[in-house]
Amino acid sequence: MKRIGIMTTGGDCSGLNTVIQRIYRGATLRGWKVIGILDGTDGLCTNPPRTIDFTNDTLPIENARLAGSFLHNGRAGALNFESAAKYGKLEQFNKQLRKSLLELKLDAMILIGGNGSLSLAWRNREIYAGLQLICIPKTIDMDIPLTDRTIGFNTAVQQLTSFCDQLMLTARSHHRWFITQAMGRDCGQLALHAGIAVGATAILIPEIKFSVDSLIKHVRNAPTDYGIIMVSEGISLRGHSGKPADMISRKLTAAGIVNRTAFPEHTQRVGDTTAADRILATRMADCALHAIENNETYVMTAVNNCECKTISLADFFAAGSVTDDPNIPDLQTSDAYVSPDDPLLDIATDMGIYIGESK
Ligand code: F6P
Repeated sequence: MKRIGIMTTGGDCSGLNTVIQRIYRGATLRGWKVIGILDGTDGLCTNPPRTIDFTNDTLPIENARLAGSFLHNGRAGALNFESAAKYGKLEQFNKQLRKSLLELKLDAMILIGGNGSLSLAWRNREIYAGLQLICIPKTIDMDIPLTDRTIGFNTAVQQLTSFCDQLMLTARSHHRWFITQAMGRDCGQLALHAGIAVGATAILIPEIKFSVDSLIKHVRNAPTDYGIIMVSEGISLRGHSGKPADMISRKLTAAGIVNRTAFPEHTQRVGDTTAADRILATRMADCALHAIENNETYVMTAVNNCECKTISLADFFAAGSVTDDPNIPDLQTSDAYVSPDDPLLDIATDMGIYIGESK
């Protein structure tokens, strides 16, 4: 009987509980034991490690659609790879993780994480030596290279779209604009997709340069005197600090365009998991279980050209680039950002959306 550990790390998103439940189900059918690690690497680093045994009662199927993670993703300020490295405690942290993994007698660990967690798992991969490490990509940012999809993105797009759909109605009542700030860190995928879905008048993302003058001209010439201007949290404006939506709002106000700002914040990370995310979670869970059966290790599940299969973590890591985020030294980011050739940019332009000076 195999012993499989599962943990969720990094920021939460919808779809985590689906993937956990599907892994539990598929593993149980194979006669394997599943051990949930609580609080990600923080729980694993505790002596003894904080774990939970799954049963049909603790993990009921009807809860698999709920946002968040039954396993928790860890407390703010807790020790993890990033903070341990920052405070010079990485060696001690890794030693405890290794000890915990040996104590739990795991054959495999399924790590459900984002770009940062997967990169750090690869960088500190020696702690998983001797067991199989299978990663599953989740993030609302959709910034993970070599996979066309990440768990949680579809629900986040839906949440942000629904939020803007509501704003659109009050915008219309008062003939004014809403500058909505999307999450996504320095990746514009979430803002771009939700912006198109809602029919935004403009979408500003970090990957594409924009001009405030062109934006103002575009808004003035728009067929309506209300609407949504979608702003990614990662954009910046030379000479300005503070929240990007506020910066844009000030510029529009100065130009006499009546507007308000709106911050959906963490509502983008919750919401009942969409069917698309549940199906993706199910496919990735199934792929991870097959990877364990095939004795694979240091791999990540990925969807490419509609096919779900594993790719090596080494390839994932090599496909990214390193940011200069001072808080997370050597954080691996990805080439999954919006590319200037993304057909969605042309489509948005054709639909009258200002998307920056992309061409
Ligand atoms: O990476 C996911 C994400 O939701 C980003 O889009 C956002 O910038 C960040 O996490 C927010 O993090 P926190 O929950 O720590 O405020």
